[in-house]
Amino acid sequence: MAITLRSYRELEQLRRAGSVVAKVLSKLKECAKPGVSTAQLDAIAAQMTREAGAIPLFKGVPCPYKNYPFPGVICASVNEQLVHGIPSEKVILREGDILSVDFGVKLDGYCGDSAFTIGIGRIDPQRQRLLDVTRRMLEIAIEMMAPGIKWSTIAAEMEACCNNAGFSVVRDYVGHGIGTEMHEDPKVPNFVSRDLLKNDILLKEGMVLAVEPMVNMGKEKVRTLADGWTVVTQDRKCSAHFEHTIAVVQDGSRVLTLNEQL
Ligand code: MF3
Ligand code: CO
Repeated sequence: MAITLRSYRELEQLRRAGSVVAKVLSKLKECAKPGVSTAQLDAIAAQMTREAGAIPLFKGVPCPYKNYPFPGVICASVNEQLVHGIPSEKVILREGDILSVDFGVKLDGYCGDSAFTIGIGRIDPQRQRLLDVTRRMLEIAIEMMAPGIKWSTIAAEMEACCNNAGFSVVRDYVGHGIGTEMHEDPKVPNFVSRDLLKNDILLKEGMVLAVEPMVNMGKEKVRTLADGWTVVTQDRKCSAHFEHTIAVVQDGSRVLTLNEQL
């Protein structure tokens, strides 16, 4: 496993890509209201990406199961959909839904990848708790990441946060290294496994990870729908997903997918 360490210059490039991602995601957060379709959100993201001179990362990704490359610029996953939901005119947001939007771009050769889940209008308190816990897990990673710490130490805290709330960490999907490619080494799980303990990641200055906790309200099991993409919970209970692209720096971590002027 070869984990690329990025120079300060490269981190700046990644941050420029990340700020495009963040700007698009904050726009989509504003636009995600009852009556809006996920295809409309996709169109907004596509236009903003073009205007920023960036390339969407997800559109055209080959499907592992069949000949159907991912057709969207964003992944839009509603309620029991966990990740990789295909934007559609037929998916119209309704009050009480939870929506996960995942989005990435490449700008001047460097990638950014981020995701959020929000409630549409007023939502059930248990759904709100699911969002809060999943967001908290990402915050734990941001707070703990620093040179010299093992990833398993962080994953254990994230997993405990989820388990204490009575929810389930998804095990079939994990985070990843990111840089000049969307998916680079290492794999970044949100849970501790024997495999992780055997092949732990010792964080070093210049590592860049896309950390993306995925949490199910019910059981951890998931499956992929016949469209080849949409991942849903097996028990059809709700699922949430938050993601940031995060660099390990000398004094801790820097979130690269933030909406800020450089
Ligand atoms: N953020 C997701 C990931 O890290 C996005 C992949 S969606 C795909 O894997 F369409 F590109 F596959
Ligand atoms: Co990702």
